[in-house]
Amino acid sequence: MAILVTGSAGFIGANFVLDWLAQNSEAVISLDKLTYAGNAENLESLAGDTRHTFVKGDIGDSGLIAELLEIHQPRAVINFAAESHVDRSILGPEDFIQTNIVGTFRMLEAVRAYHRKLSAEAAEAFRFLHVSTDEVYGSLSPAEPAFTERHQYEPNSPYSASKAASDHLVRAYHHTYGLPVLTTNCSNNYGPYHFPEKLIPLVIHNALAGKPLPIYGDGQQVRDWLYVKDHCSAIRRVLEGGALGETYNVGGWNEKANIDVVHTLCDILDEEQPRDDGHSYRQQITFVKDRPGHDRRYAIDASKLERELGWKPAETFESGIRKTVRWYLSNQHWVDNITSGAYRDWVSKQYQ
Ligand code: NAD
Ligand code: DAU
Repeated sequence: MAILVTGSAGFIGANFVLDWLAQNSEAVISLDKLTYAGNAENLESLAGDTRHTFVKGDIGDSGLIAELLEIHQPRAVINFAAESHVDRSILGPEDFIQTNIVGTFRMLEAVRAYHRKLSAEAAEAFRFLHVSTDEVYGSLSPAEPAFTERHQYEPNSPYSASKAASDHLVRAYHHTYGLPVLTTNCSNNYGPYHFPEKLIPLVIHNALAGKPLPIYGDGQQVRDWLYVKDHCSAIRRVLEGGALGETYNVGGWNEKANIDVVHTLCDILDEEQPRDDGHSYRQQITFVKDRPGHDRRYAIDASKLERELGWKPAETFESGIRKTVRWYLSNQHWVDNITSGAYRDWVSKQYQ
């Protein structure tokens, strides 16, 4: 038995594969295009593990996907592969359309052809789990209740629009072709291997490098934070027990304003690795131009997943964020390897 995981060298995909193989004997075929966000080093600890096969490739490559399915006969596909950074989607949406929409479509087509040829028993057991985001629901006002699975789709960025399109395709393949799909819509993740273009790892990296900590607009935008390993445990739970064709919201009930998250990071760093001059890292906070179309608030109502599948996050924001800061402090070589040429070009374009 094996599972096929796409986007396995990215932030959440790598955490998922590492956790899976730490807890399961079942093999993982991992596929990643290794874009700027994909880092083979994330899976380095699996070198020599015969349960893990890494393939460099594109989810939009129909021939490759068909071949991988044929050779490895996975009992499930977990689709993490995506362009994931909202700011990049604003500067250049094309890759988001290609990977998130066309790529997911090609995956669905290849999986549909594969599924048709399986024995009745294998076809019944097979699952295609699509990993998506809370951003498809749009933005909440301060008083509105958190997003449930019934919330209308109102994506506001090219990134969220492309994820919404992929979610609709996945839904359609279930309703039209009977493909056994599951979709998860998760809130903001944080934790090890988070690429330092995203708020939390960017702030940790810039703080330690003595650089400004850029806060978009007034810093009062709210995100709902979940430790990445809790997202991974939710995906395993949905894969195991989710009802076919259903969607499950994943979140930890941890709404925080961006400025409060940055203050927390500065305070933890002040304790764990104080600045040489004795001042707080808070001094490096700088308010910069807002993100165009910046969604004001996301909040996930995860009660369906908790009620129906008995899932609960293991970490609070306080425990998870401290673990995360400590991981970055102990893995500076990982950050140094990433923050080279291409990363520096991006930062100078984005924060000019
Ligand atoms: P990431 O950008 O860190 O990783 C994405 C991975 O996909 C990279 O390794 C990249 O090389 C790979 N990839 C990109 N295009 C590909 C293609 N065409 N073919 C094969 N591989 C390709 O993203 P992430 O934060 O790990 O997000 C993973 C998934 O989870 C995405 O689908 C994202 O929309 C979703 N998600 C992310 C969050 C979050 O907070 N990060 C929250 C909810 C949902
Ligand atoms: O909600 C889930 C989504 O969370 C995922 O679908 C996306 O893939 C993931 O990137 C993330 O999107 P966000 O846009 O919420 O994450 P990001 O880390 O880019 O930004 C978090 C908040 O911080 C957001 O309100 C923008 C703000 N921000 C971000 C950066 C990079 C800043 O104020 N300054 C910054 O420099």
